[in-house]
Amino acid sequence: MTIERILVIGAGTMGRQIAMSCALSGYHTVLQDISEQALVDARTELESWVSSRISKGKLEKSDAEAALARLSQSTNLVQSAGTADLVIEAAVERLDIKEQIFVTLGEHTPAHAILATNSSTLPSSRVAQASGRPEQVCNMHFFNPALVMKCVEVVRNEQTSDTTVEAVTEVATALGKQPVLVNKEIPGFIANRMMGAINAEALNLAEQGIASIKDIDTTAKTALGHPMGPFELMDMVGLDVIDFIAQATYAETGDEADKPHPLISQKVQAGLLGRKSGEGFYPYS
Ligand SMILES: NC(=O)c1ccc[n+]([C@@H]2O[C@H](COP(=O)([O-])OP(=O)(O)OC[C@H]3O[C@@H](n4cnc5c(N)ncnc54)[C@H](O)[C@@H]3O)[C@@H](O)[C@H]2O)c1
Repeated sequence: MTIERILVIGAGTMGRQIAMSCALSGYHTVLQDISEQALVDARTELESWVSSRISKGKLEKSDAEAALARLSQSTNLVQSAGTADLVIEAAVERLDIKEQIFVTLGEHTPAHAILATNSSTLPSSRVAQASGRPEQVCNMHFFNPALVMKCVEVVRNEQTSDTTVEAVTEVATALGKQPVLVNKEIPGFIANRMMGAINAEALNLAEQGIASIKDIDTTAKTALGHPMGPFELMDMVGLDVIDFIAQATYAETGDEADKPHPLISQKVQAGLLGRKSGEGFYPYS
């Protein structure tokens, strides 16, 4: 299957960077959002990212201009769905909204189009039936910031066809990413499960007073070679996001080990969300 046109739904944190990544790799890309303001903000952020890459000598001006010319924007889902070979849905994390989007995609994309969701917590089986073509649906899970992070988890649901997996993997590779295949749906996929296990142990060590937050972070960096300590990373991701993912995972598995950690919940309740709020496990000026 030849994929030339990609539709990215949702122009927020993830969607705008996924769309830019597609456009930079030569795909005709439409970035769609119901919010005109989100599209304006996305364009502004991407233009400023492009300028900074050019001034650092990391991107040719002509390549940047060509990529921005390949990237169009729309608030009209029905119209933009009509020409897509691949859709990457990165709208807000709400099942009812995603289901409605997949119904519309099933009705308005060409019959060959592959429909992927970038959701971190909703496996594609939750929206696959709504599209009417479950064998052409999978998760295509990028990491934040999507223009930088190399990993893309391609997660198949029970009905996902090999052709779908191959096509999505090929696109991820063309974007300069390193796709990995998750053969079976599982909450958190690979990366968030591993990160969850490390975070849980770090939180337990801190809660029991075994070591300070700073020393746990230092150990992760100097003994394990991690670029950031778990507390630094949680502060960067946002403690509300960590809490939300744990809640969603616990709702799915019912496993006590997946329950949001009390240290995180206390911080969230106190409005200490990490870097974005000025304080989390560490203060930020
Ligand atoms: N933020 C992350 O670190 C991260 C990482 C990997 C995956 N994800 C996943 O990516 C998706 C988007 O997350 P985000 O952080 O970019 O969210 P965000 O809140 O930054 O952006 C969501 C966007 O979706 C738009 N939207 C809402 N309803 C819509 C609709 N019906 N049609 C089109 N657009 C609609 C909103 O206007 C908003 O611009 C989620 O499924 C999330 O699980 C997020």
